[in-house]
Amino acid sequence: MPARRRTLIAGNWKMNGLRQAKAELRAVAAGMGGVGAELMLCPPFTLIAAFAADVAGTSLMIGGQDCHAAESGAHTGDVAAEMLKDAGAVAVILGHSERRADHREGDAVVKAKVKAAWRAGLLPVVCVGETLDERDAGEAAAVVTRQLRQSVPDGATADTLVVAYEPIWAIGTGRTPTTDDVAQIHGAIRHLLAERFGAEAEGIRILYGGSVKPDNAAALLATADVDGALVGGASLKAADFLAIARAAP
Ligand code: 13P
Repeated sequence: MPARRRTLIAGNWKMNGLRQAKAELRAVAAGMGGVGAELMLCPPFTLIAAFAADVAGTSLMIGGQDCHAAESGAHTGDVAAEMLKDAGAVAVILGHSERRADHREGDAVVKAKVKAAWRAGLLPVVCVGETLDERDAGEAAAVVTRQLRQSVPDGATADTLVVAYEPIWAIGTGRTPTTDDVAQIHGAIRHLLAERFGAEAEGIRILYGGSVKPDNAAALLATADVDGALVGGASLKAADFLAIARAAP
């Protein structure tokens, strides 16, 4: 991996975590000494400001899990990228398959949200991934590259885009693709990024997500073109999250 692509281990807490979960946050911050990778936790909206205040002065980053495309306005229940930034977030997960499924978010919506993240000065982590049917039909690479082509606006750079490949059938199931399959998809993603963004593609990080655990992290993180992990369930426990971070090469 080129020196420019620093491994990123991001935790997506999804709809989990009450205020008392700050203990896990503190355990991550206290235990991250000697970890070479960048670490980020993405708690629910309600915890972002408190978490960001708590980790101020450490290198642990806080991100959101979604944002609206508009800066403000009549969008009951939504949160703008500027609000995440104001609360202390530095990044935002966009286009997660659970948002695509639960809220019918398509690529055009995700693309507008990426532009919103850029407008607010947040780093977007854009998620793509195929269903099991699509994989079985041999369409995984085509699906993922189509999503990426349509979800990421022109002008992305190594500093303004992170991609997360999350096969839907691997999320929360304990199943993962083989490392050969991961390498193939990440290679296809890198190829597309190079077509669109030229030399910047070499610096854009591509995370793998879907049932990353302490016992499979080393193999996944050592796979070609895997520049980190987007971790769901295992990020809720500081010990597991740190074990994954320590497995990074
Ligand atoms: P799990 O690690 O729980 O499979 O979730 C992955 C994910 O969706 C992260 O965004």
